Amino acid sequence: MNILITGGAGFIGSHVVRLFVNKYPEYHIVNLDKLTYAGNLANLKDIEDKPNYTFVKADICDFERMLEIFKQYSIDGVIHLAAESHVDRSIKDPFTFARTNVMGTLSLLQAAKATWDELPERYEGKRFYHISTDEVYGALELTDPQGIESPFATKASSALHHHAYGREYFLETTKYNPHSPYSASKASSDHFVRAFHDTYGLPTIVTNCSNNYGPYQFPEKLIPLFINNIRHGKPLPVYGKGENVRDWLYVVDHARAIDLIFHKGKIAETYNIGGFNEWKNIDLIRVIIKTVDRLLGNAEGTSDHLITYVTDRAGHDLRYAIDSSKLKNELGWEPSLQFEEGIEKTVRWYLDNQEWMDNITSGDYEKYYEEMYSGR
Ligand code: NAD
Ligand code: DAU
Repeated sequence: MNILITGGAGFIGSHVVRLFVNKYPEYHIVNLDKLTYAGNLANLKDIEDKPNYTFVKADICDFERMLEIFKQYSIDGVIHLAAESHVDRSIKDPFTFARTNVMGTLSLLQAAKATWDELPERYEGKRFYHISTDEVYGALELTDPQGIESPFATKASSALHHHAYGREYFLETTKYNPHSPYSASKASSDHFVRAFHDTYGLPTIVTNCSNNYGPYQFPEKLIPLFINNIRHGKPLPVYGKGENVRDWLYVVDHARAIDLIFHKGKIAETYNIGGFNEWKNIDLIRVIIKTVDRLLGNAEGTSDHLITYVTDRAGHDLRYAIDSSKLKNELGWEPSLQFEEGIEKTVRWYLDNQEWMDNITSGDYEKYYEEMYSGR
């Protein structure tokens, strides 16, 4: 198979590229990325010389270029991750999100359709797998934690394991109700993907995953930003009261789910991906502070004073919680890591890879950071 992975120089994409290149030497993996501020080839240093790997710098919105790439590499499968992915940026610049996430996805769908329509086998053995987010479902209430028991509880339960802040969960059938320009653009792209199946029969699959964490995440997202700020003794900007709830999954477990679904998932299906691992932001932040202080050899409590409550994010979704039972029941997926192992590994990785972080946080980053947080 020749597989096109878009956004492979980003956070999740780089883990997916690494997994596929190492696990499937018989496949040719083409990583297509525009290398925006979020794309970083340093994320893929360990696999860049592998014979089954090719990097192509291109913009998914460039339809003619997408056609060329599909033809040049005889693409059989697409795993589409390229996107603008940060909610706060979408609040400041929604146009870029509509362009990349909506028009870019449409351009890829059209290129896949046009290329595969010309082949004798047409869509036989082909698939277009679109990576989406739980944010398209909107926000859930915080209620008494009488949610369903995590099917992963035996494996993942522990002192640090949280899994329910309410009774309701996002199901594959939950009606879309996006609130931010980011989630509205992702919802729109999901609708286009499904429309291409329903209208033209394109073999599509969509998955909606919860918040990912782990190595190589750009330090605009909560976990790497806070690890880096603690290391430098900088304030930790907690939006609102820190009571919003997110459902965290280790990025390698997301990549494993993508591999499984790409190979075994049913065409036209949607699968939710999540680890039943809900955390209130402020509780998670306290775990991060504790872990960073311990690993840096600081006394417990050293960095607690860095917590700084700031103006809330506009339209801030209160709670996300994914029910991934379908994926477990139909394809047998479950997370491989307990949360405390995942967070320890993650903090350690950022502390051990200061050079990676320093490269990213030099140049334009400082300006971005000032603009994002000044006056908050
Ligand atoms: P990211 O911002 O780290 O990476 C995005 C990548 O896409 C970058 O390498 C960037 O250069 C590339 N890109 C952006 N615009 C492009 C364009 N026009 N053409 C080609 N490449 C372009 O994002 P991420 O966090 O790795 O997310 C990847 C995907 O997974 C996104 O579709 C996102 O919506 C989805 N997702 C993310 C999470 C999460 O927690 N991070 C959770 C669920 C779903
Ligand atoms: O749910 C999946 C989504 O998770 C993905 O689709 C997005 O691409 C990804 O960015 C992530 O979105 P969030 O908005 O949940 O992630 P973020 O890391 O930006 O914020 C996590 C929570 O922490 C959220 O409630 C906002 C809060 N926060 C974030 C930042 C950056 C703060 O309190 N302070 C901050 O400085």
